[in-house]
Amino acid sequence: MRLLFIGDVVGRSGRAAITQQVPLLRERWSLDFVVVNGENAAGGFGVTEPILEEFLAVGVDAVTLGNHAFDQREALMFIERQPRLIRPANYPAGTPGRGSSIVENARGARLLVINLLGRIFMDALDDPFATLERELAASPLGRTCDAVVIDVHAEATSEKSALALFADGRASLVVGTHTHVPSADHRILAGGAGFITDVGMTGDYNSVIGMEKDEPLRRFTRRIASGRFEPALGPATLCGVAVEIGPEGLARAIAPVRIGGLLSAAQPDFWA
Ligand code: FE2
Repeated sequence: MRLLFIGDVVGRSGRAAITQQVPLLRERWSLDFVVVNGENAAGGFGVTEPILEEFLAVGVDAVTLGNHAFDQREALMFIERQPRLIRPANYPAGTPGRGSSIVENARGARLLVINLLGRIFMDALDDPFATLERELAASPLGRTCDAVVIDVHAEATSEKSALALFADGRASLVVGTHTHVPSADHRILAGGAGFITDVGMTGDYNSVIGMEKDEPLRRFTRRIASGRFEPALGPATLCGVAVEIGPEGLARAIAPVRIGGLLSAAQPDFWA
């Protein structure tokens, strides 16, 4: 099974990379599933229903979120009717939407997608470890699903590696998101889970983590907000990880994907 996870789509530049590249990559690599973190897709803050539907229309199977999940307040409503939109599972009980979802593709393969939010240097939600234990117990790999991807949206590298090791043996891919900077540590853990600490953003890297630089620089130097954060509009680098998954649901190969924009290009050689 071939899975592509694409990191945090920032604003219009990031969305253009999704609509242009996802149909091409699906075809070129015969992808079974494409999962995208979309929590910064709407002007850097949250996601709207038209953006979600545009992503689904170009071949994205599921969209995950994070700390900006509900920045667009309408998401509190439309998330209830969008089973492919997944917010962090460790929000308090009663939060609209779902923290995990099993999506099925045209070939009948079933992918469990789980989204979690870290608690270090972030608004602390419920314990992500206990939440993950509950989610994995509810849908064991090989029984109710053929593959499992866990998007750990977190600031701290330690928390992301700990959650990955916690899930190892029970997941196909644990992918860190949120920092908007790709890490170089993609690998397969001892129990067969693919892992990368952060997949990076899909956005314009001539920026402060996706935002046009002027307002972030003003806030860092003067400590007073004087305007809005606006996404940078230059060409995006699409950042992701490609994972080949065996019939038992564990990773067999993992490679970074970087296409376009300022970052050096990277593609998997195992699907060439
Ligand atoms: Fe985030």
